Parts: sequence; C-alpha cells; structure tokens
Amino acid sequence: MKGGVDGENISSNGLSTIHLFTPYKMGNFNLSHRIVLAPLTRQRSFGNVPQPHASLYYSQRTSKGGLLIAEATGVSDTAQGYPDTPGIWTNEQVEAWKPIVDAVHAKGGIFFCQIWHVGRVSNSGFQPNGQAPISSTDKPLRPQLRANGIDVAQFTPPRRLRTDEIPKIINDFRLAARNAMEAGFDGVEIHGAHGYLIEQFMKDQVNDRTDQYGGSLENRCRFALEIVEAVSNEIGADRVGIRLSPFADYCEAPDSNPKSLGLYMAEALNQYGILYCHVVEPRMKNIGGKVESPDSLLPIRKAFKGTFIVAGGYDREDGNKAVAENHTDLVAYGRSFLANPDLPQRFELNAPLNKYNRETFYTKDPIIGYTDYPFLESTA
Ligand SMILES: Cc1cc2nc3c(=O)[nH]c(=O)nc-3n(C[C@H](O)[C@H](O)[C@H](O)COP(=O)(O)O)c2cc1C
Repeated sequence: MKGGVDGENISSNGLSTIHLFTPYKMGNFNLSHRIVLAPLTRQRSFGNVPQPHASLYYSQRTSKGGLLIAEATGVSDTAQGYPDTPGIWTNEQVEAWKPIVDAVHAKGGIFFCQIWHVGRVSNSGFQPNGQAPISSTDKPLRPQLRANGIDVAQFTPPRRLRTDEIPKIINDFRLAARNAMEAGFDGVEIHGAHGYLIEQFMKDQVNDRTDQYGGSLENRCRFALEIVEAVSNEIGADRVGIRLSPFADYCEAPDSNPKSLGLYMAEALNQYGILYCHVVEPRMKNIGGKVESPDSLLPIRKAFKGTFIVAGGYDREDGNKAVAENHTDLVAYGRSFLANPDLPQRFELNAPLNKYNRETFYTKDPIIGYTDYPFLESTA
C-alpha cells in the first residue's frame, strides 16, 4: 500500500481502495462495506400496506453485505401523519413485508425496519375515529410546508397523553418490533429523530409535562429509553438500533441544549447494549438541507459503545473521510441512494451519480421516481 489522495490508499495492484469499502462487523452482522441506505419515506404503501413494488425498489438498492434501513413504518393505528406510509401493526402488513424482506435477503443484504410514531405531526384525518393525534404535549403545530415544497400540512392540536397511557404506546413499539422479526427483518431502528413522538418527549422546547416524563433531561429521555428497553427485551439488544437528531429543529422540536441531550442519550443507551446509534448531522438543522454548523457528533460518537452511524449531507469524499478518521463506523446516504440504486458500486468506481428528482420523492407512482433511476450499465 502506498499513500493516495485524501483518505485513499493505492494498493500494489494499482486499484484504489477506499475506507468506505472496508468490511465491518456490526454485532453479529458481517457488513462488506460502510455505505448504508438511510430510511426514506416514499409514500407508496397504499392504505398503510407495503406493496409489491417495494420489493424491486429495495432489492435494487441491495448489495451483498450492505445494510439497508427501511422507511419509517407505523407502530399502531395512531402512528400515521402522511398518506400511504407503511405500517407493521396488522397481520396483513406483516405478511406484505415478507416478500420485500426476502428480496433483500436474496441478494445478501441486511435489512432493518425503522419503527415510528409521528405523535402530533398528524391530523385527525389520519387518526382512528377522527380523534386528535397524541403527544407529550397539547401544544399545536403551525401549518407547515411539506418537504416537497408544494403542499402545506395542517395539523390537529394534539391530545396530551396521560401518564397511565404511556405504557400502552411503549408496548406498541414492542409489538411492532416483534412483528418486524416475524416479517423477517434482521432488526429494528427506533425512530427517535426529526420531531416525531419520541422527540416530542425528549426535546425541552416541546415537552411541557410535569410528571416523570417531563422536566429534567433524565425525565424527558425516559420514554425513549423505556421503548429501547422494551424492544431490546422483546427481540434482543443485538438487533436494536435507534436514530437521533438532537441538533435538528424539524417539526418545531428544537432543544435548548442538544449537546447534553445527545451525550446523555449515548451514555444511557450503553446500559442496554444496543447494536447501533444512528445520528443525524448538526448541519441538517432545518428541513431545507445542509447549513454550516459549528457542532460535531464526535462527543456522542466517543461516548457510545456500539456501532455508530452518521447521516446528513454526505458525499463519497466526506463519507470516506469520516470513516478514515474514525468519526463513524458507517455512513447512511439518503437522497443519493434514492437516485442511485447502485450507489456502492458507483462510489467504488468513482462513477458519476444520477441527480435526484425532489418532485417524485413522495408521489404515488409505483415506478416513476421510484424504481426507474438508471443503473450504471444502462447510463454508460
Ligand atoms: C424522501 C425522503 C424521505 C425521508 N424519510 C425518512 C424517514 O422515513 N425516516 C427518517 O429517519 N429520515 C427520513 N429522511 C431523512 C434521511 O434519512 C436522511 O437523513 C436525509 O435525507 C439526509 O441525508 P442525505 O443528505 O444523504 O439525503 C428522509 C429524507 C428524504 C429526502
């Protein structure tokens, strides 16, 4: 090996090897590279039931020994806030996931299901019997421009969960994790990011409770950690990851001290021995995209004892650098993986990337903007 350009080594056979392509042992899973499919909501699961077209979509993005995280998937009939997002609380949904998971496994991928509850980021139209969405609080959200930049989402003021109702919601996450195992997933990622229910408890600018789930940092993180514990007890901590975004402000959920929040969670998570912690970069503060940020995930990375995954605004070069410098174990790619089904191969060859089309991120079409992004061979 001799030194190459920034973070690369040129091996003696003249081929360039990059750190993103070093194998990695994540608990019991042998990953062949460090490039992860980030969870991506695509709103093509009609009636909250995963559809056959998702088999092709996910298998296109599978590489042998690659880790994929499925789109956010509802844990119960109160968990939805967007049309046609998948669920995993009914038998029909579990059965519908099975061929999708099989398609990923057939190509040697490792597939985790992101389990989700939107909390107050919803309206009564998504709720059973038109009831109010549930949350840590009864503070309403202002109408919000959707990520597609066109639609304006309207929210129904939420109903604050009573303390005695909270175990039921934790149990919904536990059952969803059990169902994910039944569907054949290799594990679950608890969605503790982006202003959804778990963050509505964690973040001090939302949580205004006075019971044991509100107030101090410890109290605000209790809900998240009780979910981690319940899910770990159900399926084994070696199959459990969590996603956090302490620095993000999405869905009106900022925190006045995100550094302490991130660090507290990393240290608390160590007690459960979960497989991974997946954290969104501070530069993804707003839904609009990358901004300059003086903050770093390094203290959280150093505090957490399991596998660390970063996401948010990464390209081939800075992802490679982050692994080379040991700032992370794995790098999750969202929009570039959405638009490049063969992203790992393109990175390996340093090939050009397809551009993503934001307009079809959340449209219903089972092909357009979903499974029709070209592979390298067909663009050559
Ligand atoms: C279309 C789309 C859907 C997304 N859906 C989810 C989701 O379901 N769960 C989640 O945690 N993050 C979701 N995200 C955030 C991504 O996982 C990722 O963190 C974000 O796109 C930043 O990474 P990138 O710069 O590589 O795209 C979504 C992003 C996009 C663009």
